[in-house]
Amino acid sequence: MNLAIIGTQWGDEGKGKIVDLLASNFDIVARYQGGHNAGHTVIIRKDGEDQKFVLHLIPSGITHPASTCVIGNGVVIDPRALLAEIADLKTQGIEVTHKNLLISNRAHLILPYHVALDRRVESHRGNNAVGTTMRGIGPAYEDKMARRGLRAGDLTNVDLLLEKLSRNTKQANNLLTHLGGEPIDENQLLVDGKHWAEMIAPHITDTTYYLNNAAQAGKSILLEGAQATMLDIDHGTYPFVTSSNSTIGGACTGAGVPPSMIETTIGVIKAYTTRVGGGPFPTELHDELGEAIRAKGREYGASTGRPRRCGWFDAVIARYAVMVNGLSALALTKLDVLDDLEEIKICVGYRINGKETDQIPYDAGELEAAEPIYEIWPGWQASTQGIANFDDLPAKAKNYLERLAEISGAPFAFISTGPERNETIIDKELLEKFGLRLSI
Ligand code: GDP
Ligand code: IMO
Ligand code: MG
Repeated sequence: MNLAIIGTQWGDEGKGKIVDLLASNFDIVARYQGGHNAGHTVIIRKDGEDQKFVLHLIPSGITHPASTCVIGNGVVIDPRALLAEIADLKTQGIEVTHKNLLISNRAHLILPYHVALDRRVESHRGNNAVGTTMRGIGPAYEDKMARRGLRAGDLTNVDLLLEKLSRNTKQANNLLTHLGGEPIDENQLLVDGKHWAEMIAPHITDTTYYLNNAAQAGKSILLEGAQATMLDIDHGTYPFVTSSNSTIGGACTGAGVPPSMIETTIGVIKAYTTRVGGGPFPTELHDELGEAIRAKGREYGASTGRPRRCGWFDAVIARYAVMVNGLSALALTKLDVLDDLEEIKICVGYRINGKETDQIPYDAGELEAAEPIYEIWPGWQASTQGIANFDDLPAKAKNYLERLAEISGAPFAFISTGPERNETIIDKELLEKFGLRLSI
């Protein structure tokens, strides 16, 4: 049984928590797109203390000793970020080896000039800045599509690597200086390149064959999405998006597995909405309420530390994510963050230029002009933190959840009431219907 976990909103829905919760039931956990723009938080309670892991490039299954983690071909890898993450994990007691982390030889590399270009291009955008994570994600995917990128496989042939690095650095430096940036030190990059090759090459393999052979042999794969539906390069709020397909299609192209192999797709969705960076966000709260949700939900970027913009649950987006990804079910997170509120709003449609619609317009400007149409629900004003049985929830919280599931068009397989593994309501019966017999 293979399962994909996908972000439904603008990221940071709690994918890391859900993947970690499920990982022990799967043989392999694989990332298929994005890069270290992602920040997936995993909290593990051990001996009465919380241990916090923030994964950026390495799949959230890495804390499970029995899992094999895979970074698929669709991911873009900054060797510096990868080595730093491996070193960080080591200080936290997790040993990353060529046995528990396999990296696709087809995955593209983020190089220092991509990071420099990301900064220059963003500063040229002025008021229309995307608000990228400045990790070089966009420029690396640009090089991939322009068919001049360097791939992880290049780290296994040092002579060729240095030749390609030298050529690409010269080209990138021309562009960088044209944009008013400082050129990258080519000699230093060649020295670094050799070091990266030495350190990373043992992890590199053909993960497409690995994953398909493993599935044939009856092993199970958990596909871990990064970013989210509304940040998808095709289906999100273009141009305020990331540069990869974070919807379900990206799982096939980015891992090299056929659609028929992914039996179940679960979308992770917050009980409200957040967004980091620029771009339209119809239900955004610009008042103290937005600040209160940010404070209670600790809504600060796991990668960049930026405050996340906060707003109400948007069912137009939820339905869109269910449709585009064919979601079997949803994992609702952060219910507990709404505990204190007197009333809670759900956006059920938009009014755009005087016209009502329940669809997301393709144009970011039109979405910017959208006025949300709200339903108002009474808050439960009681603690749901840590509740692990649906029956123990306050009646008003149950009503809110039932409405959310109904209006989103998919049932909740998980309802998360806190950051830790056991702070989760799990609908095991529903999961069994999808053939997922979980021991959690
Ligand atoms: P991801 O990028 O989708 O993996 O999400 P992030 O890790 O960036 O952000 C989610 C944050 O919410 C993390 O700090 C999690 O520890 C935390 N979190 C996840 N689920 C819950 C929940 O149900 N309640 C609360 N209070 N926090 C949660
Ligand atoms: P996870 O996996 C939230 C946003 C950036 C910016 C836009 C483009 O933790 O949910 P990029 O650096 O990708 O070119 O930036 O996408 N963004 C995210 N927002 N969560 C993420 O990842 C994100 N990854 C990128 O803030 O608006
Ligand atoms: Mg995140």
